[in-house]
Amino acid sequence: EIKKVEGLEIIDSRGNFTVRSFVTTKGGVRDFGDAPAGASKGEREAVELRDKDGGVRSAVRSINYYINYALAKLDVRDQDKIDRLMIELDGTDNKSRLGANSMISTSIAVAKTAAKAMGIEIFNYIGGFRSHKIPIPLLNILNGGMHAGNELKIQEFLIIPVGFSTFSDAIKASTSIYRTLKNLISEKFGKIYTSLGDEGGVSPPLSKTEEALDLVYTAIKNSGYDNEILLGMDAASSDFYNSKLNVYEIDGTKKTPDEMIDFYKELCERYPILYLEDPFDENDFERFSRLQSKLSKVIITGDDLYTTNIKYLKKGIEMKSTTGVIVKLNQIGTVTETLDFFDLARENSIKTVISHRSGETEDNFIADLAVGLNSDFIKTGAPARGERTSKYNRLLEIEKEYEFKYNKI
Ligand code: PGA
Ligand code: ZN
Repeated sequence: EIKKVEGLEIIDSRGNFTVRSFVTTKGGVRDFGDAPAGASKGEREAVELRDKDGGVRSAVRSINYYINYALAKLDVRDQDKIDRLMIELDGTDNKSRLGANSMISTSIAVAKTAAKAMGIEIFNYIGGFRSHKIPIPLLNILNGGMHAGNELKIQEFLIIPVGFSTFSDAIKASTSIYRTLKNLISEKFGKIYTSLGDEGGVSPPLSKTEEALDLVYTAIKNSGYDNEILLGMDAASSDFYNSKLNVYEIDGTKKTPDEMIDFYKELCERYPILYLEDPFDENDFERFSRLQSKLSKVIITGDDLYTTNIKYLKKGIEMKSTTGVIVKLNQIGTVTETLDFFDLARENSIKTVISHRSGETEDNFIADLAVGLNSDFIKTGAPARGERTSKYNRLLEIEKEYEFKYNKI
């Protein structure tokens, strides 16, 4: 039985304020959940409560008063009921009354506290005995776009360790590539340019997409892993789409949407690219599907396109827009709705990517969520910085403890 829900203003990995929610049961079991924060947000995402000065005291108040009052005396294991109650109490389409940050931190705290009260692992609480797989990580080792100070328009250059039999071997190889990449950059540009972007990837002074791909691919080859590691990109292209002119401003030129199709096609021919996220503006479902049909072996993935909302995923399924989806808890605001979205993707054989945000905390709930659901992939940044390593380290722990198999594509 829930005794109390309390909010706390904490700091995230960008030094901004975010909210942590604590749930305490009558029996004295207590755990917390944190709300992460995006920078390149989708326009259809649920919205957070944020004060004019950047704080989240309004979100904390929302937890301490409305949510605390509504959840009192409920069974902490009743995740579905609790989440639906918060949705009802909020009463808006975009969670703007209670705040998606207040709601998701509480929803996560409820799940973690329930697992703790039952004395079981969080992934088991979520997935039961069906959980048996460690997801393949998509590691963002070179940052551009809104996450870095360089001129690169593509936001994320990802490495994907597919050719390994264990997760720990995959991580070992990935860290070696990450270090090689840093060495390449300090040789080429000087040590000062090994500075990191928001997700822990390097952000060298490059401006062209190809230069970045070349550099990452060279790091893979120099580390001797060109058979085991593939490449991916998150373009987050809504951020460089000019809707007035209907062009993408990238690599020093303006490209029409159709020219972007050719651009991606050529890159996929030149480099071993397995994964391509948000290649087009978040409203262009049609072009997603044209690219997906042209590049049938590449997992074209929707992040801002769907914002973890089944309403938009249904449209994407109808139009065959993508074969992959990003799953972000705070885009929709509750664990229950996140699971509904995940299930819909699974039922339609769409690859799932449980994902962090660029502004993160040390809360590692998404690692357990990904294992619990047997997700295909997890996207949680570079293998560096505490807010990213907390997720990787949790997966290493689960692998060792339970001898779960590493996922295969
Ligand atoms: P965000 O970026 O958290 O800043 O939205 C992550 C992503 O686009 O995948
Ligand atoms: Zn994205």
